[in-house]
Amino acid sequence: MSVNSESSRQLEFMEKVREHNKGRALKYCSVVFGCQMNEKDSEKLSGMLEKMGYERTESEAEADLIIYNTCTVRENADKRLYGRLGVAKQYKKDRPGLIICLCGCMMQEEHVVEKINTSYPYVDLIFGTHNIFKFSELLFTVLETGDRVIDIWEKTDEIVEDLPSRRKYPFKSGVNIMFGCDNFCSYCIVPYVRGRERSRKREDIINEIKSLASDGVVEVMLLGQNVNSYGKGLDEEISFARLLDEAANIDGIGRVRFMTSHPKDLSEELIDTIRDNPVIARHIHLPLQSGSDRLLSLMNRHYTKDDYLRLADALRTKIPDISITTDIITGFPTEEERDVEDTIDVIKKVRFDGAFTFEYSKRTGTKAASMEGQLPKETVQRYFDEVLKKVQDISKEQAKRFEGRIMEVLVEGINEKDPSMLTGRISQNNVVHFKNCGIPVGSFAKIMLDETMGFYYNGTVWGH
Ligand code: SAH
Ligand code: SF4
Ligand code: F3S
Repeated sequence: MSVNSESSRQLEFMEKVREHNKGRALKYCSVVFGCQMNEKDSEKLSGMLEKMGYERTESEAEADLIIYNTCTVRENADKRLYGRLGVAKQYKKDRPGLIICLCGCMMQEEHVVEKINTSYPYVDLIFGTHNIFKFSELLFTVLETGDRVIDIWEKTDEIVEDLPSRRKYPFKSGVNIMFGCDNFCSYCIVPYVRGRERSRKREDIINEIKSLASDGVVEVMLLGQNVNSYGKGLDEEISFARLLDEAANIDGIGRVRFMTSHPKDLSEELIDTIRDNPVIARHIHLPLQSGSDRLLSLMNRHYTKDDYLRLADALRTKIPDISITTDIITGFPTEEERDVEDTIDVIKKVRFDGAFTFEYSKRTGTKAASMEGQLPKETVQRYFDEVLKKVQDISKEQAKRFEGRIMEVLVEGINEKDPSMLTGRISQNNVVHFKNCGIPVGSFAKIMLDETMGFYYNGTVWGH
C-alpha cells in the first residue's frame, strides 16, 4: 500500500465518523504528556478529530471524547496518567456515552496495556505510536461496534504524510524531521516505544514548512530525538546542517529552532551553519546526562567529558551569543560522589544557560534497569539537589550577560496574570515580559532587556 493511498483511506474514515455522528454537536478534549514529539502527534490527532466533526474543549468534564497521549520516559509520567484515568472513571459514570482513548509511548509497553485491559475497563480505544495515522479507522470501529479496540504495532517503516493537523499556536509550529531513535542510551525507553530511526524526505519537510509559512507561521522547530543524525537511510545524501539552512531560508520564516542534538553527532558544519545564518536560533539543547566518563560509557552515550567540553567551547567561541542548555540525570546505577563532581565540573566550565535535571528512573526492559548498583532514593535525591543548586546558580548568572541588550523577540502571547503585559522569547529561548502596547502576537519586536529575574527578563519595547 502506498503512503498516499493510506492517507486518503484514512480521510474516508474521517468522513465515515462524521456521518456516524451526524446531527450531534460533539466535543473532544485532548490531553498530552511528554515531549514535543507527543505535542506534535496530538496536533495531528486533534486535526483528525476536527475533520471528523468534533469541536475542541479544554475541559475533560464536558467532553464526549477524551484522548490521552501518554509518555513513559520516567516513572512519574506513568503515575500521572493513572491519576488522570482514575478521575476519568467518574466522567464516564456521569456520561456513559463518553469515549476514552489512550495512545502514545506508554501504550507500546506490554505490561501497561495488560494493566489497563484488566483494571480500567472503561477505556474504549488503545493504540500506540506506530499506527497513530489509523486513529480515525479505529475510532470508527469503536463507534460502530461499541466494543473496546486495542491495536498496538511493534514497529513500522511507513511515514504517512498529508494527514490533517490542528496547530496549538497560529504563529509557530513543530515539524518532525525524523521519528524513532537508534541510540539505545542504556537508561532510556524511547527506542523501545518509538521504534527505529526514520528520516522524513527533505522535500516533504521543506514543503510542510513552506505551507506553514504561507499559513502565517514565522517560527518552526525541527523535531527529532537526535536531529544531528538526520538523513540516514534516505536516497538523497543530506546532512542536518543543510536541511536546517534550507529551512531557515524559506520566505516568511523568521526563526528556526531544533531539538534535540546528541553530542556524539554534532558536526563542525552544523556549528558553522548556525553561526552564518541569523534566522537559526542562538540556542542549542545539548544533553550532557553526566560529566563522568565512567557513567557516560555505562550510559552508552559515545562521548567523553572532554569531547563535550570541546564541543561547548567550539560553540561558545564561534557563536558567542549562543545559549547552551542541557539535560542531566542524577543517580544512575553505581554513581558515586566523584561522578557527581565531574558533572559539576562540566556545569562550571560550560556555564549552562539552563538545564533540566532528572532523578534516574528505572525503566523496564532497558539495559540500565538490570545493572547492579541501583541507588537508594536518598542518594539519588542528594545528588539531584547538589546538581540542581549548581545549575540554577550558574544559569541565573548567565542570564545577566544579556541585560541591557536590545534583542529581537517573538511576541508569543498576552500575559495570563496581567493582560497589560506581553510575553515573548528571544532567539536564545529565554522569556521576556514587556508592556502591551499593541504589538500583535506572532510578530517580532525589538526589546531592551532591562533586568533578569532569574528565569525570565523584564524589558521595554524599542521598536517593531
Ligand atoms: N533524545 C533526547 C532525549 C529524550 S528524553 C536526547 O538524547 O537528548 C529527555 C531526557 O529525559 C533525556 O535527555 C534524559 O536526560 C531524560 N531521561 C531519559 N530517560 C530517563 C530515565 N530513565 N531516568 C531519568 N531521566 C531520563
Ligand atoms: Fe533516549 Fe538516547 Fe535516544 Fe535520546 S538519544 S531518545 S536519550 S536513547
Ligand atoms: Fe515521553 Fe515518548 Fe517523548 S516517552 S519524552 S513522549 S518520545
